Amino acid sequence: MKIMITGCNGQLGSELVSVISSGKSQIGEIPREIVGAEVLAIDIDDLDITDFKKTEEFVLNNKPDVVINCAAMTNVDGCEGMRETAFKVNALGVRNLSIASKNTGAKFVQISTDYVFEGKGNKPYTEWDIINPVSVYGASKALGEKYALSFNPKTFIVRTSWLYGFNGKNFVKTVIRVIEQKGSITVVSDQIGNPTNANDLAHHILKLAVTDEYGIYHCTGQGECSWYDFALKIAEYSGYKDAVIPCTTTEYNNKNNVPTKRPAYSSLDNMALRCTVGDEMRKWEEALKEYIDKVGESVRH
Ligand SMILES: NC(=O)c1ccc[n+]([C@@H]2O[C@H](COP(=O)([O-])OP(=O)(O)OC[C@H]3O[C@@H](n4cnc5c(N)ncnc54)[C@H](OP(=O)(O)O)[C@@H]3O)[C@@H](O)[C@H]2O)c1
Repeated sequence: MKIMITGCNGQLGSELVSVISSGKSQIGEIPREIVGAEVLAIDIDDLDITDFKKTEEFVLNNKPDVVINCAAMTNVDGCEGMRETAFKVNALGVRNLSIASKNTGAKFVQISTDYVFEGKGNKPYTEWDIINPVSVYGASKALGEKYALSFNPKTFIVRTSWLYGFNGKNFVKTVIRVIEQKGSITVVSDQIGNPTNANDLAHHILKLAVTDEYGIYHCTGQGECSWYDFALKIAEYSGYKDAVIPCTTTEYNNKNNVPTKRPAYSSLDNMALRCTVGDEMRKWEEALKEYIDKVGESVRH
């Protein structure tokens, strides 16, 4: 089996590469078909997915069995100011990979986000809930979902949220760095979601990729919390006390000139996983603890 992974330098892409090469995730064994698979790990220097012709040619020349797209413009506030770039990467780039994978008969896995939802509810969104993004990032990812499903029938959409992995920037690293530098951090307490360990997500993506059970999946850590609760646990597991201060979204946005609307409630229910390959996602606190224990000092830099 040949697996092509785009965005391989990012948080999720790098985790997928490492899980495949070690043959297991922190949750456990990965499917037998994946162990020993040939991995074609690429990032923007190898292929810019916004280039239709090059993307078609690349997939045609390499003939992967599965294409997992982890490439994206993930800077939520950046997307607001760069609408066309967000549209090109998160929507057209996905279309290009979807058409290219369809042309060669490959399966396609597109990673999406809780930010496709409006966030006005108060119970976890399932895969059959109606999407209604409130940001450019969310809208570009929503169109990416639509394109992916339109062009390649062998498509998995995997929505995740509040992701953290070993490579690149994430909220966990930011909280620790700011507490170290300033002694405390102020975090919003009125946005609710699900912290998700990229290693756990990689485990489930690979479980899905060996099946023919195409469709939309939610895959997030078990349990929900606010960004404030998340930061409190990060501080606790890193040995800091009284270092996290709560605030409202309005207070935070006014103080920091944040241009983007974010869903107030974007907790996801992993219903489709439960009904198919099984939901082995760990409690978010447990997955976070293992992450912080593992990265230790290195997360501070
Ligand atoms: N991070 C989260 O909290 C979160 C939450 C929900 C869903 N997701 C979704 O999960 C997926 C993985 O996220 P992540 O956090 O792993 O992302 P990430 O760390 O930002 O990595 C994305 C990678 O894609 C590359 N890339 C950007 N534009 C590209 C292009 N035109 N062609 C090829 N590669 C390109 C980036 O390169 P550069 O760094 O050079 O730009 C980067 O290496 C994304 O689909 C994201 O929308 C993420």
